[in-house]
Amino acid sequence: MTDDSVPMGQFADSLRIFAGSSHPELAQEIAAYLNTRVSEIHTERFSNDNLMVQLGESVRGKDVVIIQSFTPNVSEHLLELLMMIDAARSASARTIHAVIPYYSYARSDKKDAPRISIAGRLIADLLGHAGADHVMTMTLHSPQVHGFFPVPTDHLTADEVFVDYFHTLDLSNAIVVSPDIGHAKRASRLAKSLGIGVAAGDKERQSDDSVAISTIIGDVDGRDAIVFDDEIATGGSVCELVNLLEARGVGRIILACTHGVFSGPAIARLAAMDKVYEIVTTNTVPIPSYKRLANMRVLSVGHIFGRAINCNLMGQSISSLFAFWSEKWIGH
Ligand code: R5P
Repeated sequence: MTDDSVPMGQFADSLRIFAGSSHPELAQEIAAYLNTRVSEIHTERFSNDNLMVQLGESVRGKDVVIIQSFTPNVSEHLLELLMMIDAARSASARTIHAVIPYYSYARSDKKDAPRISIAGRLIADLLGHAGADHVMTMTLHSPQVHGFFPVPTDHLTADEVFVDYFHTLDLSNAIVVSPDIGHAKRASRLAKSLGIGVAAGDKERQSDDSVAISTIIGDVDGRDAIVFDDEIATGGSVCELVNLLEARGVGRIILACTHGVFSGPAIARLAAMDKVYEIVTTNTVPIPSYKRLANMRVLSVGHIFGRAINCNLMGQSISSLFAFWSEKWIGH
């Protein structure tokens, strides 16, 4: 946590923060940054499997912030969030802010097979219908998903914490590598702020847990590599890339991603990657102890959400949250 947290009493009694069941630890961190507390919720599962969610205190005339990441069980967490938003609306909240650190359905962003739903857009619509006035999220799978949301949405980035961390390492021989040309822009932005070069893999997804990377475009031979992606799910993308990087004589390899989802075979695959020096991720999703490999580092993004919430509630511009590229690091 950074030391720029908001002063005690800034929101007097005007703010209520609620945590869905997906990530109470991050909600606590955000509340601590805002110098306030997380309010109670009561949930009940009826015998017919219906869910009931009740906000534990009055929200009449208050600004309500609800924090829920789309982690497994995603459908349950989504429904819980929709019900909390609806409950806040019908209890006369003044404004309702949905904070979704990991919006997993951003991966469903196009109609790439017949008769499928573009669920990323559907769920964005549902959030608006439920009563959210505003959404805050981080590192969407593709930036265009931002446009799916029918209400004002702040698309935040975790790059600040990566830049701060990587600046503590020796980067003299390092290059940032994106597993996918389609996401190379993101990697390029990180590389620029670190003052190093960028390369990208030519990736094609074959199934949910396997990809093929035919080649790497860029000068990676004999370098140290920071492999940078939006998320590691099954680990298929990064492990395939690591194999290719090894074949190109790359030295130290660090894997970095905003969302450490680590689903299915991911942990077993990553544990078998001897060449990987470190796996750096953030706490947009909770990472249980059994998934925490010895070479894993989890950086906190609680203060980034705290700042964005503070700016919104104080009616201040959030553009300063993106300004660190030019003001802090370019030319460093
Ligand atoms: C996909 O295009 C994303 O940018 C990530 O590369 C992907 O979600 C990672 O999934 P996995 O770890 O299963 O390859």
